[in-house]
Amino acid sequence: MKAVEVKNLYFKYENEWVLEDINFELEDKKFMAIIGPNGGGKTTLLKLLLGFLTPTKGEIKIYNKPPKENREIIGYVPQHTNFSLDLPITVFDIVLQGRLKKGKFFYSQEDKEKAKETLKSLNIYELKDKKIKNLSGGQRQKVLIARALVSEPKILMMDEPTSAIDPRGQKEILDMIENFNITRIVVSHDIKILLRNVDKIAYIHKKAVIHEGPKLNIPKDKHFCEVELIEFLKDEACGI
Ligand SMILES: Nc1ncnc2c1ncn2[C@@H]1O[C@H](COP(=O)(O)OP(=O)(O)O)[C@@H](O)[C@H]1O
Ligand SMILES: [Mg+2]
Repeated sequence: MKAVEVKNLYFKYENEWVLEDINFELEDKKFMAIIGPNGGGKTTLLKLLLGFLTPTKGEIKIYNKPPKENREIIGYVPQHTNFSLDLPITVFDIVLQGRLKKGKFFYSQEDKEKAKETLKSLNIYELKDKKIKNLSGGQRQKVLIARALVSEPKILMMDEPTSAIDPRGQKEILDMIENFNITRIVVSHDIKILLRNVDKIAYIHKKAVIHEGPKLNIPKDKHFCEVELIEFLKDEACGI
């Protein structure tokens, strides 16, 4: 089953193309990393996949429908938290927000059960009654992942989930994402993501170069130069 189909996608905010002729597909339950330089168009591509932006040309389908018509099955973890961290709001309340739908003004018992279940499955149930402002960056990120998962999406999209988190927290979050049994798209400027079990890599710099993950076969135990790896990935003629 195809989770994502992107065909001849072009996008511009104003006069200049930000994305040109992007084409890729992603199968159900696969893990895709979107990498590339700053300003390359990664966040823009994610916003198009989420249906927050509309293609200037071309087509995007998420499980066979335009993203805007399929919002309920998309879980989203934004790049920067958009709620004030000084609010006296608890972890449990934040996770419950993920159960909100249009025209729904209260939480059912089922919503609360799902929130508990999700916190337990991510091993952060003990944080339930803590205020979000008292958590570490890594813990906060896990809570936002819980909020995205509590509505049981078929696809999870995340923008820079490990930025501004300490190395141990980064590892925990990537371990977590790697083990989810749903479709995942992760934007990252940190190419350590490539050492993970990704099924597909899109190198985005206005245009896209798509790589199948496992064929890369990057040795996990060797030190490698990030710049060389980036050069390698963007070279369409690299023969992988
Ligand atoms: N809202 C916007 N209006 C106009 N230009 C934008 C907007 N958002 C991003 N851009 C431009 O689009 C390009 C791609 O940005 P972005 O998708 O944020 O890249 P990345 O996430 O790879 O760093 C950049 O040149 C950026 O300046
Ligand atoms: Mg970005």
